[in-house]
Amino acid sequence: MIRPEKMTAHMLVEMKARGEKIVMLTAYDYQTAKLEDEAGVEVILVGDSLGMVVLGYENTLPVTTDEMVHHLKAVSRAKPRAMVVGDLPFMSYQASVEDAVRNAGRFVKEGCAEAVKLEGGRRMAPVIRAILGADIPVMGHIGLTPQSLHRFGGYKVQGRDPRDADRLVEEAKFLEEAGCFSMVLEGIPSALAERITGAVSIPTIGIGAGPHCDGQVLVVNDMLGMAEGFSPKYLKRYGEVGKLMAKAFSDYIAEVKEGKFPSREQSYS
Ligand code: KIV
Repeated sequence: MIRPEKMTAHMLVEMKARGEKIVMLTAYDYQTAKLEDEAGVEVILVGDSLGMVVLGYENTLPVTTDEMVHHLKAVSRAKPRAMVVGDLPFMSYQASVEDAVRNAGRFVKEGCAEAVKLEGGRRMAPVIRAILGADIPVMGHIGLTPQSLHRFGGYKVQGRDPRDADRLVEEAKFLEEAGCFSMVLEGIPSALAERITGAVSIPTIGIGAGPHCDGQVLVVNDMLGMAEGFSPKYLKRYGEVGKLMAKAFSDYIAEVKEGKFPSREQSYS
């Protein structure tokens, strides 16, 4: 049964219509998902950024469907009010429509995802239609799509030249027509994100796309400041958790070495 207060794809579309901003954040584990949900995050994305911030891969390309399902399960066990969206990893949906439906189905059936996200516009048409045909809501993702890293030749802001900008507006309109309930706009100029947001009636959720999107998303590890020195222009670090952890680890080491931990307080009589 769907809890009455549970966030749904329909609610996100209604939020756009009311002009209410949507808050999305990534999570990859049970405790973080619980904390995000209790704070009021509306969409939890189990992103394939998992590969870089949790699994230590160089980019998102090696992430497998099994790895994604494993982390989706952990997040879903938090039973969040937030909508849980699973990010289809590279090569889980590009090779065939059958792969795409089967893998999206695994996200829902095993990982308890309530929607899937996939990268690409018009060229993903058959895949988007087939996944929707299995009654799985789809979130689009255009702009700087990290799975296209090698085609782009790096993580480069997209849509800067007028022809590319027009193409991205068309891609966004296509995603709406195809039936996506929302789309991520990543790494594009603010003015283009504003144009796209005005051209579609489904919500746009930006990352590195300026303030005019209907919502925002960040990678949780990045916004918490877990990685020393990772500070791209679009990122705001809302904490310095990496520094806090480093201090806690060195305090612990020092106290164990000096015989200060455990003290009587932490010992059983
Ligand atoms: O994988 C991810 O975390 C993402 C977001 C950055 C949108 O795709």
